[in-house]
Amino acid sequence: MRVLGIETSCDETAAAVVDGDGTILSNEILSQIDDHRPYGGIVPEVAARAHLQMVDGIVDRAMQSAGLGFEELDGVAATGGPGLIGGVIVGVMTAKAIAAVHGLPFLAVNHLEGHALTAGLTDGIDFPYLLLLVSGGHCQLLAVRGVGDYKRLGTTIDDALGEAFDKTAKMLGLGYPGGPAVERAARAGDPARFKLPRPMKGRAGCGFSFSGLKTSVRQTVEGLPPGELDERDIADLCAGFQAAAGDVLIDRCDHAIAAFRAQHPGPVTLVIAGGVAANSYLRGRLGFLTRADDVTLVAPPMSLCTDNAAMIAWAGLQHLRRGQCDPLDFAPRPRWPLDPEAPRAVGAGVKA
Ligand code: KG4
Ligand code: ZN
Repeated sequence: MRVLGIETSCDETAAAVVDGDGTILSNEILSQIDDHRPYGGIVPEVAARAHLQMVDGIVDRAMQSAGLGFEELDGVAATGGPGLIGGVIVGVMTAKAIAAVHGLPFLAVNHLEGHALTAGLTDGIDFPYLLLLVSGGHCQLLAVRGVGDYKRLGTTIDDALGEAFDKTAKMLGLGYPGGPAVERAARAGDPARFKLPRPMKGRAGCGFSFSGLKTSVRQTVEGLPPGELDERDIADLCAGFQAAAGDVLIDRCDHAIAAFRAQHPGPVTLVIAGGVAANSYLRGRLGFLTRADDVTLVAPPMSLCTDNAAMIAWAGLQHLRRGQCDPLDFAPRPRWPLDPEAPRAVGAGVKA
């Protein structure tokens, strides 16, 4: 079985073809970073237009590098949400058109499910596993019990971790995208110079909160002599921010491992996914969780942690295998929680 996947929910236009045996036949990705940089963040309208301009070319490239014609596919998958709705509409319409013209099944994939199932593609791991999903829009711990079967153990009550990285970068003048810039600057920094909070650390449950950490970075910057934020200050603040994020993640994952074990006794596999999972420092810190012999950490290659279409094709394949596909009148969803039963986090804005 071969499925074409299309991802357009944020600021990457991507298309990929994946085989049912887990071979990635092609994986094309076009970043819109240069389009958004002048604005210091993603502008939804700019993103939607750029997707519209680029999506056909990216799909062609993915088909060409896979060496396949549309008639050799078994299905077409696109991110159906959650995400910036203009972009999602572009991907969904493109996939529906290809499906209609070539008589193929259409699959609307939950973007978060794409991230959640990536470890099956890259590492072939079995269900159930524990997932830490940390991206620009989401910060959640989930028990992944099977395809389409997710139990949320905790989420953020305010900012996602990637959002906190991006806002910290902006405050320090590091530009957009923020995560990789903070990681780079932190390498030369002293994490102990500034005392930053560890929100939620030690609290019961698996919830997150990052707005206090972000505010504390801002107050620290404001407390420095005006106009004197030098490279050392920036490096130390980035290192301090990352160290705080690392402490929080370890504490929250420890709680989640205990909660997961209560339902699924035995060894635990913890998978990290989402754009923030591309951070080498945090990957290293999370390795600490494997101090217990029966906890294994699985971190997909960085290129498959950040947004990509191979994960969408792979998630689509899992549904197709189960005889599931979606009607051509599927309506794109700006909000689409992985665990619809989970209550909305107290204090949460529009997090899925
Ligand atoms: O999963 P993703 O590509 O898109 C969403 O679905 O949100 O995640 C993007 C987020 C951004 O906030 C970006 O700053 C963050 O992931 N990110 C990182 C790193 N690379 C990307 N955060 C920290 N360190 C990184 N190296
Ligand atoms: Zn994502």
